[in-house]
Amino acid sequence: MAAGAHETGTAVTALQVMRDAPVIPVIVLQEVAQAVPLARALVAGGIRMLEVTMRTSVALACIEAIAREVPEAVPGAGTVRSAADARAASRAGARFAVSPGYTSSVGHACRDLGLPLLPGVATGSEIMAAAEDGHTELKFFPALQAGGVAMLKAWGGPFPELRFCPTGGVSPANAAEFLALPNVVCVGGSWLTPADAVSTGDWARITQLAREATQLQRR
Ligand code: 3PG
Repeated sequence: MAAGAHETGTAVTALQVMRDAPVIPVIVLQEVAQAVPLARALVAGGIRMLEVTMRTSVALACIEAIAREVPEAVPGAGTVRSAADARAASRAGARFAVSPGYTSSVGHACRDLGLPLLPGVATGSEIMAAAEDGHTELKFFPALQAGGVAMLKAWGGPFPELRFCPTGGVSPANAAEFLALPNVVCVGGSWLTPADAVSTGDWARITQLAREATQLQRR
């Protein structure tokens, strides 16, 4: 990533979030105590952009802990479904947001908060709605289920200037195929943080998975 862009408190853009590494980890945390060692393990493997999903009651506290204690990481909030979610994520210290779909109210809230957003899209109409609100970096979700590589190739025709982070069903087995596409900057996935490794505190395994993810070739 660009020098300095991940320093504590420095604003990042959606494009920087996508360019930093080939994979954005989608993280589900059940305990606050897991947040800091997990973030450190990912950073040790070269992954700094961390999407902590707002799917558990401790998600905001986890984002707060990472923001406070792991300055090399850039915590973001995933599963942002409303303007209220965006505000709560920003207050907790999230420096970017990822949403499973797109509404203008989420887009406007993020814009007002200065929170870069990767809006989730799965159809041409959703892409047009997000692009109308100024979003040129988009999450394709759920990527595999909604058409995968073939869908991204098709979108390259009418939407040549838009860039995607396919997420959902992406794994080490198919990531390279996505990353080879001209309109894909990175992929997202939960495989860097397997639930059993997180619950048992197998941080070395997570660092290794992160390291392998950074070796994936991008176009
Ligand atoms: C999600 O929101 O759960 C992500 O899309 C992760 O999907 P994956 O588990 O298929 O990587």
